Amino acid sequence: MKKNIFVIEGDGIGPEVTRQSVKVLNAVAECFHHEFHYRYGLMGAAAIDKTGDPLPDETVELAMKSDAILFGAIGHPKYDNDPTAKVRPEQGLLKLRKSLQLFANIRPISTYPSLHHLSPLKTKNIEGVDFIIYRELTGGIYFGKKQTNTEQTLASDECTYSKEEIERIAHLAFKQASLRRKKLTLVDKANVLETSRLWRKWVQQIAKEYPQVTLDFLFVDNAAMQIIVNPKQFDVILTENMFGDILSDEASVISGSLGLLPSASVGNGPALFEPIHGSYPQAAGKDIANPLGSVLSAAMMLDHFDLHKEAGLVREAVEWTLVNGFVTKDIDPVNFYFTTTIGELISDYLVGKISGAELNQENIALRKSTII
Ligand code: IPM
Ligand code: MG
Repeated sequence: MKKNIFVIEGDGIGPEVTRQSVKVLNAVAECFHHEFHYRYGLMGAAAIDKTGDPLPDETVELAMKSDAILFGAIGHPKYDNDPTAKVRPEQGLLKLRKSLQLFANIRPISTYPSLHHLSPLKTKNIEGVDFIIYRELTGGIYFGKKQTNTEQTLASDECTYSKEEIERIAHLAFKQASLRRKKLTLVDKANVLETSRLWRKWVQQIAKEYPQVTLDFLFVDNAAMQIIVNPKQFDVILTENMFGDILSDEASVISGSLGLLPSASVGNGPALFEPIHGSYPQAAGKDIANPLGSVLSAAMMLDHFDLHKEAGLVREAVEWTLVNGFVTKDIDPVNFYFTTTIGELISDYLVGKISGAELNQENIALRKSTII
């Protein structure tokens, strides 16, 4: 299979984690005789520094022409504490989502037995947790009319949703639920918000087309609590843009490390794959960031290309690193391996799995960093 992948490394740890995914994709291509071609583009603080624009037109054009986009991370501290900044890195990502109509953000939440101890939650509550959040990504309060009065004493952000915006993501979520444990939970604030009542109305309507799926509802405040006290109850969660943003970060603590979680943003054109973590500027350039969120995002990309065997093997390789303690500093602060080493190990595992080659144990041992 031949695919054109557009890579946006982005800010902070974005470049170093994304490079591991490219390494892994190259190993997949080698093993399975695919051709992956890469083109690179700028977005975020890196793009502002070079061009003054968080999303240069060229980036949108190349993204549109690609088969899929692999994205690293966005954000830089110099903009975070400056409410007067005219341009912000995040504007680049929001505009790209809108330009490509990436209306559904899909975030799977799963756990790894070898990492249960890292979660602040009790092991008995998180064993076997496996759910997916479908977050609406191009509407709601993120994209509504924004206003601040001239005196800078009043501001507003409008939240709007249309029937069409609700329906298109609802269908994706119901389809996913019918392939899984057949339960869909709509998270909203229908006791207060008009937009939430619109969501309930149309989601209930669409539910009739998926009689095999059980639909239930949770108010977002209750959902935030249920994700912590009983996360096993969830199969597919469907929600609007801002609730999904907040709940998906919250849900990430279940897995034990934010650095592990992948996501896919899909629309009608090319889809975008990115880890859910941010740019983690404190770690940038130190080769210590966890590349697994990015590598697992690349696995979601392979699934998206219908390369399910390849995607499964990448996940197997990731699991192999975790089980064997080949982990980054966020997971084991004493005996840890570098970002680049994890990328190499996963690639070696893939190539070895196919060719039967042995992993070079000496090489592995040499790259371990032991702080005593
Ligand atoms: C995310 C991020 C973004 C969002 C930011 C960087 C604009 O938090 O992808 O979840 O709020 O959507
Ligand atoms: Mg977020």
